[in-house]
Amino acid sequence: MKTKMQVQTCGKLYLAGEYAVLSPGHAALIKNIPIYMRAEIEVADSYELDSDLFSHKASLAPDADYALIQETIQLMHDYLSLLQRPLHPFALTIRGKMGKDGRKFGLGSSGSVVVLTIKAMAAFYQLKLSSDLLFKLAAVVLLKRGDNGSMGDLACIAYEQLVYYRSFDRMAIRQRLADTSLLEILEQDWDYEIKPIQPALACDFLVGWTREPAISSDLVKQVKSGLNEDFLNQTQLQVDCLKEALESADKTAVKDSISTASQLLDRLSSLIYTEKLQALREASQGLDCVAKSSGAGGGDCGFALSFATEDSQTLIQRWQEAGLELLYQERMGAHEPKS
Ligand code: PMV
Ligand code: MG
Repeated sequence: MKTKMQVQTCGKLYLAGEYAVLSPGHAALIKNIPIYMRAEIEVADSYELDSDLFSHKASLAPDADYALIQETIQLMHDYLSLLQRPLHPFALTIRGKMGKDGRKFGLGSSGSVVVLTIKAMAAFYQLKLSSDLLFKLAAVVLLKRGDNGSMGDLACIAYEQLVYYRSFDRMAIRQRLADTSLLEILEQDWDYEIKPIQPALACDFLVGWTREPAISSDLVKQVKSGLNEDFLNQTQLQVDCLKEALESADKTAVKDSISTASQLLDRLSSLIYTEKLQALREASQGLDCVAKSSGAGGGDCGFALSFATEDSQTLIQRWQEAGLELLYQERMGAHEPKS
């Protein structure tokens, strides 16, 4: 056991497939965003938890603010005990709020904190966890909590890259958890797919922040009843097209599939495209760009792909004028096209 270890986890952003991915067997494309949460873990006489998300510290005694971290620690303790590893108290410090001025960005901080806590404990106990096992352990934590998400955020954050994620039947695995040992569950095939994607299309990837915090689980509850076969099938088609188009550097197809996925969301519920998100999307008009809301919508972030440097500047300026903040920017697609 080393004395002090450091780990980090990224944020994520849905490119396409949100809401549809809630239906088992449907896919989404989710991109890693290198805005990090960081953790330090070291040996201590008793458990000390300290996150800058809260103004107080905690131990393992029940604490509503620290519940997610505590439940993750509990799951890891169950796992370590099954591996017959002796447990030792530690001090865990978590930094990085994935937000500003008390408002979250919507980059998946709760998923990130679960993966971060698992990574920190794996480092502390010198366990080598594959990205896949990391994903499954984090998913078990959320399943036990009754989370209503697709776990797509965990897939992206555990793999730390742009992924194609096809979801599993969370209800079925949650039921299995009741009568199957954790080790067995972790070894089983849950029937999901997580495939890292290497975009070959060169473009600027821009993230715009609305500064309006949205709660995904609430939006999911409100929007879910509208998920019909037509939406699911059409969205799946666009996710598959976008994946192919990104890999083969087909600009027109990338733009088409993102715009169509965006229209499908717009038709699904009026809660998704807030005025700010509409402005984010409309800023791409007349430019060699495509823009879309990301994730549950109702606020948080959207993104744009821009294929001309001058147009990126115009788009950013239009965003600023509409009260949208450029949160992150990168040059995407430095890879050779897949033949
Ligand atoms: O808003 P986000 O980034 O939390 O994304 C939510 C995406 C949904 O498909 C609406 C829900 C989910 O868990 O997949
Ligand atoms: Mg969101």
